[in-house]
Amino acid sequence: MKTGRFIYNLNYPIYEKESCEIEVRSLFKFDLKEKVFFESRKVHPSISPFLKSRLEIIHKASTFLELTELTTKNKIAASDFMVKYMELGIDDPHFKKRRAYCKAIGLVIGGLACYTSPKIIFGITFYKGNWYFGKLTERSLYWKKHNKKPNSYSSSIGLSTAKVLINIAGNGDTSKRLIDPCCGVGTVLLEGVWAGYDIIGCEINSKTAENARKNLRHFNYEAKVITGDIQDIDESFDAAIVDLPYGNFSLKNDENQLKIIRNAIRISKKIVLASSEDIRAELVQENLKIIDHCKIGKNKNGDFLRYIWVCEVG
Ligand SMILES: C[S@@+](CC[C@H](N)C(=O)[O-])C[C@H]1O[C@@H](n2cnc3c(N)ncnc32)[C@H](O)[C@@H]1O
Repeated sequence: MKTGRFIYNLNYPIYEKESCEIEVRSLFKFDLKEKVFFESRKVHPSISPFLKSRLEIIHKASTFLELTELTTKNKIAASDFMVKYMELGIDDPHFKKRRAYCKAIGLVIGGLACYTSPKIIFGITFYKGNWYFGKLTERSLYWKKHNKKPNSYSSSIGLSTAKVLINIAGNGDTSKRLIDPCCGVGTVLLEGVWAGYDIIGCEINSKTAENARKNLRHFNYEAKVITGDIQDIDESFDAAIVDLPYGNFSLKNDENQLKIIRNAIRISKKIVLASSEDIRAELVQENLKIIDHCKIGKNKNGDFLRYIWVCEVG
């Protein structure tokens, strides 16, 4: 079955707009303009808090009749398949009749349809004057169960933010080796394992480190958590995700925060930092090149929770 590019759709609450935009830049390397986009890169929607589904295009046609003819002519066949309409969340004159369109396409696909546990989901949609048929991949929201991890604490980062940090650090390339050297109860580790990365954690507080291990075990996830100080790590990594501990002072006066940043530079080629204050000047002072940054929102009132800094070492 020959396939072409992908159609992705996404959505975000307005206070997470910047978060979604930096994730798209990190995964797809372009500036997000619309909530629907075409891309040649294959990314599973479940790794993102914002991506909803992905259609791997098999046919494009200007009329629905042409789409059914192409599907017939190319003898598309599968066992236990289902056809769904990919809702793009914009004015679509055909959306109301989506069930009839899905049924019509289903009738020209060879093989048996299955509505309970399909092995393959085909998708159709209409976008800007063209019809599309392809393989549909919808997001799984299983990761939301991570909210119910047995051990949490007040300074745990939010799940969406943790996912975005992973995507910024790994750029969707799961061959990269990641570290969260101040991992707390392991919120970022859970999202890293879920997305398929080789990721380890380090945490200075032994009780918190044990809680991170318990959280990972709760979901049957495997990731090493070292109890110790970042300064004792002697391996190297493609990227470090550092959710800085809250200091009572500004960064330049906080020895531990500075130590964490200097050690992150020592062990990693790229650093993704989350901070509660604007630390741009201090990062530049440490010879870090800031390649991207944003503010991650907290709620619809426009408050923000963290500054995110994407830095290259050297
Ligand atoms: C903001 S919290 C991280 C929270 C974490 N992202 C989570 O969601 O659970 C920062 C953590 O860094 C740890 N920490 C502080 N100094 C450290 C150091 N020098 N080496 C390793 N961990 C450190 C603290 O104990 C704290 O758990």
